[in-house]
Order: sequence, then structure tokens, then C-alpha cells
Amino acid sequence: MVKTIEWTPGGVVMIDQTRLPAEETYVTCKDYREVADAIRGMVIRGAPAIGVAAAMGVAIGVAQAAADNLDAEMEEICATLAATRPTAVNLFWGIERMKKRYQALRSSGADVDAIREELAAEAQRVLDEDIAINRGIGLHGAALLSEGAQVMTHCNAGALATGGYGTALGVIRAAIEGGNSVAVFANETRPFLQGARLTVWELQQDNIPVTLLTDNMAGHLLHSGKIGAVVVGADRIAGNGDVANKIGTYSVAVLAKENGVPFYVAAPISTLDLSLASGDEIPIEERDPAEVTRLQGVQVAPLGTTAMHPAFDVTPNRYVSAIITEHGVARTPYVESLRELAVKSSA
Ligand code: MRU
Repeated sequence: MVKTIEWTPGGVVMIDQTRLPAEETYVTCKDYREVADAIRGMVIRGAPAIGVAAAMGVAIGVAQAAADNLDAEMEEICATLAATRPTAVNLFWGIERMKKRYQALRSSGADVDAIREELAAEAQRVLDEDIAINRGIGLHGAALLSEGAQVMTHCNAGALATGGYGTALGVIRAAIEGGNSVAVFANETRPFLQGARLTVWELQQDNIPVTLLTDNMAGHLLHSGKIGAVVVGADRIAGNGDVANKIGTYSVAVLAKENGVPFYVAAPISTLDLSLASGDEIPIEERDPAEVTRLQGVQVAPLGTTAMHPAFDVTPNRYVSAIITEHGVARTPYVESLRELAVKSSA
């Protein structure tokens, strides 16, 4: 399985997701600012993966901070990483987890070298746990897919979007490992083409059958009766089960419901934001409109075109058949079922 991100003595190494599939190249971030730039520039992307990157960013930042100014630098490191992308709550979750560990070490009187070492170990644990969590999501999700199902997915919620294995694609992997010959239909996911570039590439590495669709083919396919289920990831899930995910997910969810196709969201508990009552409160990232008017660096709209680029949308809970987590599957009413799973996870 492809390595999305790795802690090495030379820095935080990431596969460059802006260059796939044409080039399989790796970027080494030598300080926390480079980690922040990599998150903002989408060298690394996908909610759980940017949570891991943020944790490693904090660890490398503290490793290099002045010993006599540690608290102030820790604050600056966390603020810089938190300002990269607003929607995926896993980013903030990763930073908070590192902050808590730092504060515990500080109040226990640990020396600076021990703090540095322990934060590097904590970041590594965030990565290792993420892979284990995804395997758990996979097992719960695989049970929902019928034999030989053709599964539609949107964006990339695979190994590349996580520490490894994937959430939505983890469900596919677990189904296949369990002997179910499922096949994937991947929406290309304009404008960044996570589906065409990343999902197809990643599935091909594992010889998992995948068929590419442009986004505007989704309705036709869902109506055709060929698709047994939709499985997507999430960037943030509000307390009522509204789901923020890659732009275009909402349209797929509505089309799925209209055509009687179950629409599943696969995500770790760290993607839940129970502090938000509904999806209306989820901040939606606005990215550079040039990513819409240009495709892979090539201008496709007339120069001077006005474009918009909301990078995520919110799918209201009524379109979500179930939310698959590492602690089990939540169904409506989500206010209760999500809370129960969150309690299970903190126990
Ligand atoms: O802008 P991106 O590529 O970071 O958006 C990623 C998505 O929307 C994914 O579907 C989501 O983060 C879940 S990844 C397991």
C-alpha cells in the first residue's frame, strides 16, 4: 500500500498529490512552515491525512523550537498549522491532541529533549492509529455491501487521503479482502480531479477494478440500476449527521436517494464535530478560482472569466443512509446515534 506520509530523521516525507499520477514524487518538509505549505497547497490532502500532517508539523516545529521560548513557539506553530485549511475538522483534532500531550508533559516537569521525543512519538501514534481505525471502518462498512456490488465514490477517500488504507476505499478494500468482488465507479471530481488522478491511481496499484466517470455522468449511472451503493468520506460531520465533503457530494447524495441507491459516509470518530448542531455551521473553504478556470495548469475558460470555487458542500442528513465509523454504524436519528458512538470512542 502506498505511503502517504512518513516521519523520517530528514523531515516529514509526503507523496506529492499535486503530481500524481504523472509522477510519483516525494516532498520532504524540513520545518513546520513547509508542512503548513504542503497542506495549503494540497501536496497532502484528505481529512485524516491532514490531521496526521498537522500532528507531525507540531512535532517537527517543537523539535526545532528554541528551548528557552518553547511555549510561545508552540503557540505559533499550532496557529500556523490551524490557518491552512478550514473545513476538515481532523486538522484541528490533530493539533489539539498534540497540544494536550505537550501541556501534560510541561506540567509533569519533563525536560525539553523528552518533550521533543515524546511529541514525535505521539505524531507517529496518530499515524499508526489512523490506519488501524480505517481497518475498523472497513470491516463495519464491508458488511453493508452486497456480493459483487458496483460502488460509486466521489473525490479520494483512500490511502492517499489518510494515514493508509482509506475510509471509503477502506470499505472497498475490506470487502475485497473478505472475498466480495466489488468494483468501483469513481467520479472524476472537478476541479482538482482527486477521483480521476488519485482514486483511479490508488485502486490500480492494488488491482481493484475501477471505472472513471465525469461528475455529470453520476445521475445517469445512478438511474441505470448498475450502482448498488455510494460510499464517500467526510471532512466534518455535524451533531445532526449533516456531512461536509468534497464539492459535488451533495448532488450525488440527492441523485442516490432519488434513485433508491443507499448513500454511505465512511469516516473516523475524529471527523465528528458534535459542537456543531447542523451542517450550516461548517466553514466551507473557498479556494482560488484559477483552479476552476485552469485544468492541470492549462487555461480552459476564456481569460478574465469570473469563477467560484467552494471546495466542499454539505449533504443534509436526510440523504445519508448510514455513517460508518470504527466503532460501528450510525443511522438516523443521528443526534442520538452519533453521540452514542462518540461516547463509545472516549470510553
Ligand atoms: O480537498 P481535499 O482533497 O482535501 O478533500 C478531500 C475530501 O473531500 C475527502 O472526501 C475527505 O477528506 C475524506 S478523506 C478520507
